[in-house]
Amino acid sequence: MSSGESPGAAGPAAGRPVVARTRAELADARARIEGRLAFVPTMGALHEGHLSLVRQARRSADAVAVSIFVNPLQFGPDEDFDRYPRTFDADLEACAAEGVDLVFAPDRAVMYPTEPQVTVDSGPMGKIVEGAARPGHFDGMLTVVLKLLNLVRPDVAIFGEKDAQQLAMIRRMVADLNVPVEIVGGATVREPDGLALSSRNRYLSAEERRTALALSRALRAGADAAAGGPAAVLGAAESVLDKAATAEPPLVLDYLVLVDPATFTPVTDSHTGPAILAVAGRVGATHLIDNVSLQLGKER
Ligand code: PAF
Repeated sequence: MSSGESPGAAGPAAGRPVVARTRAELADARARIEGRLAFVPTMGALHEGHLSLVRQARRSADAVAVSIFVNPLQFGPDEDFDRYPRTFDADLEACAAEGVDLVFAPDRAVMYPTEPQVTVDSGPMGKIVEGAARPGHFDGMLTVVLKLLNLVRPDVAIFGEKDAQQLAMIRRMVADLNVPVEIVGGATVREPDGLALSSRNRYLSAEERRTALALSRALRAGADAAAGGPAAVLGAAESVLDKAATAEPPLVLDYLVLVDPATFTPVTDSHTGPAILAVAGRVGATHLIDNVSLQLGKER
């Protein structure tokens, strides 16, 4: 155990978080938490989006745990695992300022003492949309989330709605595998100009950031066209993205989809009711995703 007050003494004035680096330290800290525990799993590089999840966690439980672990299993061979920002000291300060009780910050050998032989298969839903753009990503993500849930044993776990397919897949895993935890989504936090907060935004140059704004603009254009139905939504979003494809630097679109929120399968042309408009693309070497929830069709 590195430092801190007794976990469970909730509240921003309660002192610094306990930092657990090993499974034994985590088990010891967890045993001393009283009441309802809310958990916010992260890969660190914490920003306001994460901190809003932490505040939501604080409101919904007696104690809050945050994990910080850049999970190698969910990165493809050509992805940004090596350069993913690692800012532990700043993350810990941010957790302390938010009154987090427990920070679990394992290294790779703690999470994967041996090469895992048994992992979570994300199934058909893990191979569509973001899963098609990043093969294997959802298997690796679900594997680490299940391990973290088993280790931390929270009552509730909170995940950002910016990663909407991730959230849908975690809900599905918890339902299908009877994991005893409540899963809750937290609203996406945006910059004033609409850009969704992401740890990867720090990779963007000023010019790349300008191009990246097309993602949130496309979603807003699509949302504004919701009364016209699926074709109108997609058409409005596409026209914004088409312009960004010829910008300098260009947006290289991975996908724009209008999907059922629970299954991430495309909605039909006549669909009415809830849907998610999700977009992903690359600007330079940076993969960015965003989405918006919609109600399609006329008043019901
Ligand atoms: O959303 C993230 O930061 C990660 O995918 C998660 C859920 C912490 C698993 O590594």
